[in-house]
Amino acid sequence: MVKIAPSILSADFARLGQEVQRVESADWLHVDVMDGMFVSNISIGVPVVKSLRKVTDMFLDVHLMIEKPVRYIDAFAQAGADLLSVHLEADMPPGIRAALEAMDRHGVKKGIVLRPITAAEAVLPYIKDVDLILVMTVEPGFGGQKFMADQLPKIAAIRKYIQQYNPACHLEVDGGVDPVTAPQVIQAGADVLVAGSAVYGAPDAAAAIRALRGQ
Ligand code: DX5
Ligand code: ZN
Repeated sequence: MVKIAPSILSADFARLGQEVQRVESADWLHVDVMDGMFVSNISIGVPVVKSLRKVTDMFLDVHLMIEKPVRYIDAFAQAGADLLSVHLEADMPPGIRAALEAMDRHGVKKGIVLRPITAAEAVLPYIKDVDLILVMTVEPGFGGQKFMADQLPKIAAIRKYIQQYNPACHLEVDGGVDPVTAPQVIQAGADVLVAGSAVYGAPDAAAAIRALRGQ
């Protein structure tokens, strides 16, 4: 069964506690961290993850859109993240390795993320060592963008690699996922769907989550 991970980037930050309650029928909570360097936007950081940890038992899926993320793994792990994902474009391979090792030391789940420009094969050096691969279906930085259907073959290619090398690894998709595009990414092999505007932009978040599950 597919997991739904609402992205709080589309929530009202002034009432974040209630916004988390609105999506409790989902599986994971997706937290978008942006540094104004790796992506042009700035969003939220360590103190917000710490506050979220106090108000929810949901699995905190923290997507780090930051340069040289190894610098912040300890802080986000200590703040209570359950999974941290780092962009392969955000550092050289030794820096990515060091970030994954830091996650191991803290016992948090490990994810790697690909921008739309990055090819499926880029996951191969890491695939046996990670719990999740995240494929972006928009340029990272902002919610509410149009789904990039040209990423579907990449999702399918990575699903094949996962079956071959690490069948327990999750395949997450992030960007423009709504009730129309969700069946397409599921068909291509995704098992975790991030959705910001499709959930928080809906009057009934629980109904929106059901719609993403195809129910
Ligand atoms: C974009 C973020 C996404 C964003 C998705 O950089 O990584 O998680 O919140 O928002 P929607 O679902 O509106 O495309
Ligand atoms: Zn995200």
